[in-house]
Amino acid sequence: MSLETPDIDATLDEIELESALAIDPAAADLLFREAHTTNAFADQPVSDEQLRAVWDLVRWAPTAMNSLPLRLLVVRTPEAKQRLAAHMAEGNRDRVLAAPVTIVAAADPGFHRHLGTLAPFVADAEANFEPLTEMRDGMARTSGLIQIGYLLVGLRAAGLGVGPMTGFDAAGVDGEFFDESGWKSLVVVNVGVPAAEGAHRPRQARLGYDVVSATV
Ligand SMILES: Cc1cc2nc3c(=O)[nH]c(=O)nc-3n(C[C@H](O)[C@H](O)[C@H](O)COP(=O)(O)O)c2cc1C
Repeated sequence: MSLETPDIDATLDEIELESALAIDPAAADLLFREAHTTNAFADQPVSDEQLRAVWDLVRWAPTAMNSLPLRLLVVRTPEAKQRLAAHMAEGNRDRVLAAPVTIVAAADPGFHRHLGTLAPFVADAEANFEPLTEMRDGMARTSGLIQIGYLLVGLRAAGLGVGPMTGFDAAGVDGEFFDESGWKSLVVVNVGVPAAEGAHRPRQARLGYDVVSATV
């Protein structure tokens, strides 16, 4: 394996790249190439219908044992925003307060309660997983984080901008919102239509395939 990397973000030439993709260039731009992390939002609401439509897509993406451990707390009201903002890192606080909607994306270690429906191919899954608290925590976290990736792309597919953040006090957020459910916050995501100006920072470099891959 060579670690020489002459061009850190080298990519295929455009024609070669487009013909290798199964989605059209506009979709590739919307979901990936032109999509930026959004820090400022237009004064436009995000409806529950939009969020439902996004979930209707995202739920089909794969998780371990089809466990779907991701849970979404949709934070809308000014009161709830204040409760959440109190646990955000200082630089993220005003963004939460300003975003049309903020989603606390969390993992549910109690995901096994749905396995009878989601994974009927696993015999006695709910009963067998019940005592395995540590394993459930790990599984919920791993698949929950993977589902957050799908969620970000799904929100972009609805034409929305996303501002994911891990700069927050997770134990504080869990105590504030998840005492009863036992959900564990993973990423806080601001959601909305990007502002016409100042929505994002300048694009930084990305690693090319030759840097991030090895073939054996
Ligand atoms: C998991 C995750 C956590 C992040 N946490 C923060 C954060 O706490 N505060 C912040 O300002 N940006 C945060 N970001 C934003 C990243 O810095 C940003 O997505 C990245 O630099 C790419 O920017 P671009 O989409 O404009 O190219 C986070 C992004 C991700 C995916």
